[in-house]
Order: sequence, then C-alpha cells, then structure tokens
Amino acid sequence: MKILLTGANGMLGSAIAEQLAKTSHSLLATGKGELRHNQLIFNEKSNYASMDITDEIASKHLIDAFNPDAIIHSAAMTQVDDCELNKERCYSINTQSTIELIHSAKEVNAAFHFISTDFVFSGDDGPYVETDQTAPVNYYGKTKELAEQYLIQSGLDWSIIRTVLLYGKTDHIKRSNFIYWVRDNLVERKPIKVVNDQIRTPTYIPDLAKGIIEVVERQAKGIYHISGDEIMTPYQMAIEVARYLELDEQLITPVDATTFSQPGMRPQRTGFKIKKALDELGYTPTAFKSALAEIFS
Ligand SMILES: NC(=O)c1ccc[n+]([C@@H]2O[C@H](COP(=O)([O-])OP(=O)(O)OC[C@H]3O[C@@H](n4cnc5c(N)ncnc54)[C@H](OP(=O)(O)O)[C@@H]3O)[C@@H](O)[C@H]2O)c1
Repeated sequence: MKILLTGANGMLGSAIAEQLAKTSHSLLATGKGELRHNQLIFNEKSNYASMDITDEIASKHLIDAFNPDAIIHSAAMTQVDDCELNKERCYSINTQSTIELIHSAKEVNAAFHFISTDFVFSGDDGPYVETDQTAPVNYYGKTKELAEQYLIQSGLDWSIIRTVLLYGKTDHIKRSNFIYWVRDNLVERKPIKVVNDQIRTPTYIPDLAKGIIEVVERQAKGIYHISGDEIMTPYQMAIEVARYLELDEQLITPVDATTFSQPGMRPQRTGFKIKKALDELGYTPTAFKSALAEIFS
C-alpha cells in the first residue's frame, strides 16, 4: 500500500513513520520543513518530504505525484491555549487545511484517516464511546470537530481515530510530554501542582501508532476511539512516575483545574471506552506501569 503521512515531525507522526518504515508499505512521511529527528530509518520504500499543509497548491502537487492509497493526517496545531489565542491560525491548520487535503485525497481516490481528539467532547460525562455526541468546550476541539464533520460527508473512504493525552518516549523530538515534565521537575526537586479533577485514559504512543496502522491496513471505516484503558487523573499519573523512578512524591500537590487560569478551557471528564478497537482491531493497550518501564529502560 502507498501511504502518505502528515505531521511526521510530531510526537505521534514520528512514531507512525517509525513503525511504517519497518513494514512493506511504501511511505511518504511529510512534515513542515526539514525532518527533525534521526530515529526514523528510511529505506528504498520510505521517504520524507517537506509539506506545509497550509500551502494548498504545494500539498496538492505532492499528493498527486505520490498518488497514495491512503493518507494518515496527523498534523495539527495541538496546543490548546495557542489555539484559543490564535483562532484564525488554528482554523487554518486544523480545519481549512484538512478540508483541502480531503479534496486532494478525492482526486487520487485515497482513503483518508484523520487523527482527532477527546477534546471534541464536553467532558461532562466521559469516558466516551464513538457514538456519543460531540460538544467541544475550546477552540482547538471546535476546529477538530469541524474537520471531522467535513470528512464524514466527504464521500471518501474515511476513518476518524480519536485519542487521549499522549505519552511516550519522545526525547528525540521537539515537543516533550507530561511524563518527562514530571520527571525533570522531581529530579530537580521542584514542587509541582498537578490537576486531580480531570479524568483521562492516557495513551501510550507506540500502541496508538500500531492501532492506526491496523485501521489503515484493514481499510477500516468509521470512528475509532484508541487510547489506554486505565482511567487516571494527571495527578495519579504523576504519582506513578514518581514511584516508578523512586523520586519524592511529596513534591507533587493535587489541585483542581481552577488553580490555573488558562485561555482554553479543558473538558473535565473525558477518556474513552475502547471496546470497538479491542473487538475490531485486535488493539491491546499497554498498562501504564509497563509503559513507564519501557520509556525509562
Ligand atoms: N498530544 C495529545 O495528547 C493528543 C491528544 C488527542 C489528539 N491528538 C491529536 O494527535 C495528532 C498528533 O498530535 P501530536 O501530539 O503528535 O502533536 P505534535 O507533536 O504537536 O505534532 C503535530 C505536528 O503537526 C505539524 N504541523 C503543524 N502545522 C503544520 C503545517 N502547517 N504543515 C505541516 N505540519 C504541521 C507540527 O509541525 P512542527 O513540529 O514543525 O510544529 C507537528 O510536527 C494531532 O492531530 C492531535 O490533534 C493529540
């Protein structure tokens, strides 16, 4: 299969590219600017190209030339507060560019796999199943919801893979994640305040990458919720990190989200029920403690 990936410099995109480069698929991994990490092993079947998804014409040319069977669209403006403060840019990257990529996919008849988020939900009543009603509480979630809605009525073969709070071994890329933030602060003996009134089902990045590749290979269609299966608050995650690394958990104070004033509101109770992914994709999430062992091994 010929697969074009967007966002290959990102936390998730780099993991997808890394796994796909080890398969027999032909991969064109794309990202904004140069390839920024050296973990990717490219070979005669996988390549990297610079593609800014807001450049409609250049993106269309690249897609036409590669003529993929499937597009995995992982690129996005992902920082919730930046989206709230720069709505025009957030809409341009997350909604408008996705619409344009869908048009390009249509021209080459490629299946379109869109990576979306738990932040399309209100957070009033999670964990959520695929058929639950979306109702985002921040602009980031709104732009992802609008892109989902456009894709659903596009007439293409499509999937929407929603996920939750990613963590994993990402030392080699620009953006770190929560696990490392906790470790680094505790190592420096800096006290941290961590939210304990939001629930999530944190997602181990290699599990998600594998789940996404399953969707693509099985040519599965529709919405899939792919995350971990343990309901945790960020505070509980931080405590697990401290215990695993034998750092001082007394430095971690549980707080309510109201402690922080952030431009973008966070949904309170999200997380997913993942029965559909377990049943249809053979998806098996790694337990949080086992994932920590892999990350810090
Ligand atoms: N992280 C989470 O907890 C989480 C939770 C739920 C859903 N998701 C979804 O998962 C997907 C991957 O997220 P992630 O955590 O891997 O985020 P990330 O590390 O921020 O990666 C997103 C990538 O998109 C790229 N990008 C931004 N604007 C672009 C443009 N105009 N053209 C081309 N590429 C562009 C970024 O490029 P630069 O690196 O050059 O800026 C970045 O590499 C996103 O669709 C996100 O909505 C993430």
